[in-house]
Amino acid sequence: MCGIVGYIGKSQAAPILLDGLAKLEYRGYDSAGIAVYDGQEIRKVKSRGRLKILNELTHGGETLPGTVGIGHTRWATHGSPSDINAHPHHNKDGSIVVVHNGIIENYLKLKKKLEGKNYKFVSETDTEVIAHLLDEYYQGNPLQAITKVMHRMEGSYALGILFGDHPDELYAVRKDSPLIVGKTEDGCMIASDVPAILRYTRDVTFVENGEIIRMTKEGMEFFNADQEPVEKISVHIDWDVKAAEKGGFEHFMLKEMYEQPRAVADTFSPRLKEGGIDIGELGMSTEELLKVKKLVIVACGSAYHAGVTAKYIFEGLARIPTETELASEFRYRNPILEEGTLVAVISQSGETADTLAALREAKSKGARVLGIVNAVGSSIAREADSVMYTWAGPEIAVATTKAYSAQLIAIYLLAMKFAFAKGILTGEELAGMLGDLKKLPVQIEMLLNNREKIQRFANRYLAARDVYFIGRGIDYAISMEGSLKLKEISYIHSEAYAAGELKHGTISLIEEGTLVAAVSTQKELYRKMISNITEVRTRGAFVLLVTNEDNTEAEKAADYVIYLPETNPYFTNSLAIIPLQLLSYYVAVGKGCDVDKPRNLAKSVTVE
Ligand code: G6P
Repeated sequence: MCGIVGYIGKSQAAPILLDGLAKLEYRGYDSAGIAVYDGQEIRKVKSRGRLKILNELTHGGETLPGTVGIGHTRWATHGSPSDINAHPHHNKDGSIVVVHNGIIENYLKLKKKLEGKNYKFVSETDTEVIAHLLDEYYQGNPLQAITKVMHRMEGSYALGILFGDHPDELYAVRKDSPLIVGKTEDGCMIASDVPAILRYTRDVTFVENGEIIRMTKEGMEFFNADQEPVEKISVHIDWDVKAAEKGGFEHFMLKEMYEQPRAVADTFSPRLKEGGIDIGELGMSTEELLKVKKLVIVACGSAYHAGVTAKYIFEGLARIPTETELASEFRYRNPILEEGTLVAVISQSGETADTLAALREAKSKGARVLGIVNAVGSSIAREADSVMYTWAGPEIAVATTKAYSAQLIAIYLLAMKFAFAKGILTGEELAGMLGDLKKLPVQIEMLLNNREKIQRFANRYLAARDVYFIGRGIDYAISMEGSLKLKEISYIHSEAYAAGELKHGTISLIEEGTLVAAVSTQKELYRKMISNITEVRTRGAFVLLVTNEDNTEAEKAADYVIYLPETNPYFTNSLAIIPLQLLSYYVAVGKGCDVDKPRNLAKSVTVE
């Protein structure tokens, strides 16, 4: 996720900016840059790659003298990681310079308009639109220009802005992307996150949506979007730097779980337009979509589990025959890919060796490959014929949570798009589904807020030797992910089973006290699942059931029930995964495991 830092004061700005950016490194980035007003003009240095390069280019900031500046670490969204796409971005004569964290959803429309007025764009970013738009509205009053631009932009943003003809001022504004400000001993700072400014101040003000800040050496003033002054109070932060990186959470995994409502919303919001789903980014016309006769989904780990969910949804909703396969298997079995087959590879990192090899195998056989990828500009994103990005932001914990949740959303959008194009879904049905989709972030948050209840439950199972996850249909898919989460971070042996298959072997492993986590979200399968739960309970299992509120038999059938809010039956995985993630997390914490870096595992597996 991009990181922003800004400083205005009596000290040299560049070293403070570089230091602040270094404290935001944990957020992940692919390029970085800073801009400083040197007494005459705003000078910029930016580069793809690590901050070390920026440090070398500026001799630790020495070559950029000046006491006001802004800095940025970029995690690519629009446009691949490159020197040109790195921030800061500027207007035509370089007198207005911006750094941005967030996504401007209507940037293409704005860009077109600005091009019509002869604005020239040098980068592929959405951010450059902001610099030109500010230029368009600027008539000597920065506050006025910023408020006008705010009214034109849709999406999320935290901005740091320098105006060359107001060199004693630093501006910032936010909507839906994090931004904090702090008064230091000799000036003011802005940042995306607390660690960047902790060294300089512990008194921090959290900027709310729609607020603009004007900072000078002496202090800061807050305004609302009507340019009226706003009173703010600061809070004292006593976290150490490590805790601050995790936003006060104990682990990155927990922080990222709490980022899921945002990751999910960021993945669907930019694609919901005029009552429909816009995935023009795929470069596939409706005719081309209709030519897809079969879908083959290939991935590894949790991304594979998202693919298993996809099979149920694509077949059930869009009536497209779908196969989901592990990339490590697919690549060596000489797959048959007939005309009309679309191969979708799913990957958070976009670098997983087996998934990349599977993509190449599919392409060599003439299939069209769609990449569902989180890391912009990654190998899979570059080599796939079409890319659909999940906007989860960088993930640090090895065990994926928010990227997986964003993958599910990408799958729902695609399946609905196909179903609508094929005439299976009516406009009214699609609208109903989109309504349910939009409710998911709040529902996920509700489930996350139930964490203490799950923690208490988890603490009873710290000594478990084996755990079984069971479900049918789409609930089997989520059981697989729940089981993987538990085993990878808590080192407890766990298995996911299609509930109906239990009696063909696995049931012999159930003993007195064995924990079985059952997921039952599909109404038509409630009865069948109750039978399976009874089968294991009569053999001594303790059953935790994750189900919907209308499952009236749940309390009688299981030992412990977690209810999910109501959603479309195709979207239940997005909700059911939350208690399962919390369960694994708290079991692992209770056992004292290294939650963020489980033994023997890597975040990105770039070897076979
Ligand atoms: C590793 C990670 C998993 C991930 C899998 C696939 O095993 O630990 O969390 O699901 O790789 O990674 P990808 O980057 O392709 O999604």
